[in-house]
Amino acid sequence: MSAVVVMGSQWGDEGKGKIVDYLAQQADTVVRYQGGSNAGHTVSVNGEEYKLRLLPSGILYKGKHCVVGNGVVVDPKVMLEEMDAMEQRGIDVSGIRLSNRAHVVLPYHALMDGLSEELRGNDKIGTTKRGIGPCYQDKAKRVGIRVCDLMDKDEFAKRLKENLDVKNIELQRLYNHEPLDYDTMLRDYLGYADRLRPYVCDTIALLNDELAAGKRILFEGAQATMIDVDYGTYPYVTSSHPVSGGIGVGAGVAPNRLDNVVGVVKAYCTRVGGGPFPTEQLNEVGEKLREAGHEFGTVTGRPRRTGWLDAVVVRYAGLLSGINYMAVTRLDILDGFDEIKMCTGYRYKGELLNEMPASLKVLAEVEPVYETFKGWKTSISGIREYRDLPIEARAYLERLSQFTGIKLGIVSVGANRDQTIVLEKYLF
Ligand code: GDP
Ligand code: IMO
Ligand code: MG
Repeated sequence: MSAVVVMGSQWGDEGKGKIVDYLAQQADTVVRYQGGSNAGHTVSVNGEEYKLRLLPSGILYKGKHCVVGNGVVVDPKVMLEEMDAMEQRGIDVSGIRLSNRAHVVLPYHALMDGLSEELRGNDKIGTTKRGIGPCYQDKAKRVGIRVCDLMDKDEFAKRLKENLDVKNIELQRLYNHEPLDYDTMLRDYLGYADRLRPYVCDTIALLNDELAAGKRILFEGAQATMIDVDYGTYPYVTSSHPVSGGIGVGAGVAPNRLDNVVGVVKAYCTRVGGGPFPTEQLNEVGEKLREAGHEFGTVTGRPRRTGWLDAVVVRYAGLLSGINYMAVTRLDILDGFDEIKMCTGYRYKGELLNEMPASLKVLAEVEPVYETFKGWKTSISGIREYRDLPIEARAYLERLSQFTGIKLGIVSVGANRDQTIVLEKYLF
């Protein structure tokens, strides 16, 4: 039995896709447990770039199971498009398994995601408009449609009718939008159902059987700790649980089955969308980070907000998810900096805080306490051994590890699969 988790420690886009792809070499099965097509995970292999939204990043290897778990909200159209695009590039998708309990994203979810953002005026969350929030809302409201319902023609027809009748009232009265057509939606979704049917199964049984048979399972978090609906900067969050605890409810694998939790940490910070970001640099440092790191969203193309590494956030993520190894990514983006800063404390009204503030007002006003590090000013992308990294880079990483109490497991120095320095070989 062996289960390893890879999850985001900051605000997303840490490079989870790259780390999952790297570790998937050793895994039998890769599992998504939350989120939906709001994720954008980039994997680069031999100079070829793949952008994954719903499919687990293990898809690039032949012969592995790639599970979309019950905690994921699935837009079947996006999933099929992604599968088709993979097949066109010669990738085998026969290992995909879709949970019969996953909730289905319908066209009114995406539409209402956009419309409700409009209604918020200047106080937008800045969602990806993929219908993620509205689909999770329906799940919690107990009106959602699950994959098992989609697979049953009569059941789906009935549930869609019930839902659409209500959604159309909402669309017209609240948003002044024309109603959506039932017959078109029914026809489209029954078509998707036919194509997805061969991949649908009870993934809870599948995963627990695999664990019992000694298989290696890799869990792929989407989004990240600071946009977790409970632990993040609520309400500027996504609607799911990216923390490792999300696996218990999103994949049906119990917490005591997890062996190692790898927190992916970008060597600086970025955030897409609204909400507080204590170490944000609205100055030339932020510009330089954005330019050096090409920090524009994978899903939406929006410029990402940028800032220094916040070790207080990483320590908080470690605590919440039981992170025992860090995978630090994009260290090479800091190659050109004379000086690098890391936040190791928050000061609020002159006092040092011990906890992550729950109040957004407080978080928006905290003053980060920085430690300053000398830059290494040389390219590190070609380095493959930890000891060969410049001493300044090691000092930066070791301070992060010491401050957070989390061991360094992997250091990534480039987007490609081989641009990876491994300190801990045996995560499984
Ligand atoms: P994810 O959502 O956490 O999977 O991250 P994204 O894919 O949205 O963003 C991370 C970006 O960084 C992608 O373009 C990756 O190919 C790239 N990347 C990952 N690790 C490294 C690294 O160590 N160095 C560089 N330069 N790029 C990296
Ligand atoms: P990956 O998996 C970064 C952000 C959105 C918005 C908020 C809510 O690639 O790291 P949603 O559409 O989920 O309701 O939007 O969450 N967000 C992400 N930011 N990376 C992501 O995914 C994100 N997924 C959602 O920008 O602020
Ligand atoms: Mg991303």
